[in-house]
Amino acid sequence: MQYDKDVISPATRRENSEDIGRNASANPTMGDVIARRYSRRSVIRGSLAVAAIGAIIDPLALIARNTAQTKEASSFEFEELGAGSDETHHVANGYRADILLRWGDKIFPGSPSFNSASQSATAQAKQFGYNNDFVGFIPIDGANDRGLLVVNHEYTNPELMFPNFAKIENGEVSLGRYTKDLVDIEIAAHGGTIIEIRKIKSNWHPVLDSYYNRRITAATEMELSGPVAGHDRVKTYADPSGKKVFGTLNNCAGGLTPWGTYLMAEENINGYFNGRLADGHVEFQNHSRMGIPDAWYDWGSFYDRFDVSKEPLEPNRFGWIVEVDPFEPTSIPKKRTALGRFKHEGCETVVSPSGRVVAYSGDDERFEYVYKFVSKGVYDSSDRMSNKDLLDEGTLYVARFDVDGTVDWLPLVYGRGPLKSENGFMSQADVLIETRRAADLLGATKMDRPEDIVPNPATGKVYVMLTNNTRRTADNLDAANPRSENAFGHIIEISEPDGDFTSKTSRWEILLKCGDPSIAHVGATFSPSTSENGWFGMPDNGTIDTDGRLWVATDGNSKEKTGRTDGLWAVETEGPERGRSMLFFRVPIGAEMCGPCFTPDGEALFLSVQHPAEGGSSTYEYPSTRWPDFDPNIPARPAVVVVTKLGGGKLA
Ligand code: FEO
Ligand code: CA
Ligand code: CA
Ligand code: CA
Repeated sequence: MQYDKDVISPATRRENSEDIGRNASANPTMGDVIARRYSRRSVIRGSLAVAAIGAIIDPLALIARNTAQTKEASSFEFEELGAGSDETHHVANGYRADILLRWGDKIFPGSPSFNSASQSATAQAKQFGYNNDFVGFIPIDGANDRGLLVVNHEYTNPELMFPNFAKIENGEVSLGRYTKDLVDIEIAAHGGTIIEIRKIKSNWHPVLDSYYNRRITAATEMELSGPVAGHDRVKTYADPSGKKVFGTLNNCAGGLTPWGTYLMAEENINGYFNGRLADGHVEFQNHSRMGIPDAWYDWGSFYDRFDVSKEPLEPNRFGWIVEVDPFEPTSIPKKRTALGRFKHEGCETVVSPSGRVVAYSGDDERFEYVYKFVSKGVYDSSDRMSNKDLLDEGTLYVARFDVDGTVDWLPLVYGRGPLKSENGFMSQADVLIETRRAADLLGATKMDRPEDIVPNPATGKVYVMLTNNTRRTADNLDAANPRSENAFGHIIEISEPDGDFTSKTSRWEILLKCGDPSIAHVGATFSPSTSENGWFGMPDNGTIDTDGRLWVATDGNSKEKTGRTDGLWAVETEGPERGRSMLFFRVPIGAEMCGPCFTPDGEALFLSVQHPAEGGSSTYEYPSTRWPDFDPNIPARPAVVVVTKLGGGKLA
């Protein structure tokens, strides 16, 4: 095995990539807007206004509450878990957390058993993939004890997956040279899994012989649909039609639709491409803005389509939302181009009172934007097939968060405002392929890394997880991103007027500034009744439970950064305890927490434990944990966990 000292692990490259931020647009920050609108003296007033809007709760009200209301009961009925960091997972007392599916588990009756010493792409394509992120549960015939679990497999950690591939030299991990066999295993470990699961007595099991079970990989045939399908900028040597794509990449979070389909969000697609674009290539600016090529992996040495010098337009076929019908295992997944192309964290949908479907999606990179798509057609609950192409036609909007607490949703429509030929947009396809640049021109607000955006149909509110942005400096603060060196992130609450999610004007405020509230300069704003276990940093994924309450999963907490691993926190958003947070579950060392998803009866909670043992000098041979098997011959394995209440019944 040859070692290449210059190769850093994909995990490190991912961190670096998200850390860069490629938005060089001159969009004004809110500070600039204030400076323009107010005289020098009023700038001070403006800054105060920023502070007031930025605060979740009036500080005086906090003090009053601190004395009067610390005994107020939480609406969440569980005994809070202690925060900490160790090699295994923990759940609150009175609950059990069982491993449901691990990397390498069988998906079909004929799947080979997992054997990390002799992996193959053919075996992996029939087994549960790596790095489970999004998890959705779709009931079969309305049942709560039988449904389809849909799971994204975001990326691979070769240093933790392959024997003898990574070596530690001077405390740094260096990777071996890729072979085609290893690349093929990685391609098969990406994508998604659809698998039927059932509850028998009080235990959940995968159903291996189900008609529905399916693996989707980075090589599965897909179709580009919507305004970009067949456009010249998505035609390649291998696909002159511009419609037929193989695979989906870096499926981070996602969503479910009201008609029971599964949305897979393509996020950090930059990492999969290598090679050098020809000098003066027309796509240079477009690819640069997406950070392409970023070469985390070496797939391009074995497949021309991942080498931009050979297939310069292939990257334009990734960065979309992919819709999969899990009830039709042979159906061709569709890349819904009307929803725009960027680093989609996820895509959660909700039906507006008018019946139109609204899909929210964040672009997860520093200084990128928050989007929503509003369908042209309306959802029909009595005719499933009539909804199947709803996501092909509609309007994509990007958010501008104004200092007065308004959100203006700016339409990304060809021919309107600056989205014209003078700026290089010749059609709606151009606007969608270069969504980021179009959003720059409209003056959208540059955010602190938008991750999940979670609509709450019960309240008409929408929660935007902004995970962190340590590159935000004091001179580019704005009302919606009010902290410099924002290491711990914050959560914005958008209120859609009268629950109309299609609204072009909404209200916003900050629900939480995250981090340790006991350290004054951090400026965290959890409710004072939040315990020392209850605060968190780096919100990432979220879900709304059957009682309309918010749960937040985190990515980036560690013993070093926050004295705790990532986990799942229950967060009050209504009433006097608004802003109170309680720890329910925590992951083993090196992992992030993803995919919180409840069954409709609220009796089971599916959680995704992604990349256990990642980071530092952790390798296949010397991992920081061997969760969940704790067998010296088995590496750490990402896994989906199912949480239930001891004795049964609704959780929390
Ligand atoms: Fe894949 Fe934005 O986390
Ligand atoms: Ca992830
Ligand atoms: Ca994420
Ligand atoms: Ca994240």
